[in-house]
Amino acid sequence: MTQRKPFIVGIGGTTRTGSSSEQALALALGYAREQGAETKMYGGNDLLLPMYDPDPGTMTEAGRHLIEDLRKADGIILSSPCYHGGVSGLVKNAIDYTEEMRADPRVYFDGRAIGAIGVGYGYQGPGMVLSQLRQIGHALRGWNVPLGIAVNSAVVKFQDGKCSEPAIAKQIEIMAGQVVQHAKNFMVA
Ligand SMILES: Cc1cc2nc3c(=O)[nH]c(=O)nc-3n(C[C@H](O)[C@H](O)[C@H](O)COP(=O)(O)O)c2cc1C
Repeated sequence: MTQRKPFIVGIGGTTRTGSSSEQALALALGYAREQGAETKMYGGNDLLLPMYDPDPGTMTEAGRHLIEDLRKADGIILSSPCYHGGVSGLVKNAIDYTEEMRADPRVYFDGRAIGAIGVGYGYQGPGMVLSQLRQIGHALRGWNVPLGIAVNSAVVKFQDGKCSEPAIAKQIEIMAGQVVQHAKNFMVA
């Protein structure tokens, strides 16, 4: 039985001050810590990486750190705004960096619990992005946890680490708990 805490990496948000997708991610990681995880967050400004280039020798220091953390991760939480009907370029570009993990013993998101948060200004966009993030997690061989989070930022507000809608906060807490629990399951497997 391992004593190590599960390590959960969060990727998401936008560079906008007060970004709701970033605050939702921060909230999720906070709940993950409450439930026994260590976490590392790559928010909007941390994701200002060059467009991923598969050519050898092009990797930046910042890109290397992201990949090093993803290699260590037992679980990953992705949070994207809906930008014109899809996952934002900022978040997708960060995910594209996982191509560096294509030859790893645990390729891409293999053996990792994946949580997903989609945020949009309305009711349609968040569900679309949530679905896309789960498809990406699946394509990268990750294990999506059962509960996905769709946030309509027109009605749900985040401020000072809190969510205005208790039902959404509860869903984020449950999703974070599922990521931690599934990550622990992988660690003992
Ligand atoms: C370039 C751009 C495109 C957007 N496209 C959509 C969209 O197609 N559907 C939607 O629901 N919201 C759209 N939005 C709104 C964002 O999804 C919304 O502001 C959400 O809160 C996420 O951004 P935030 O993390 O910065 O708060 C768009 C915002 C921007 C800046």
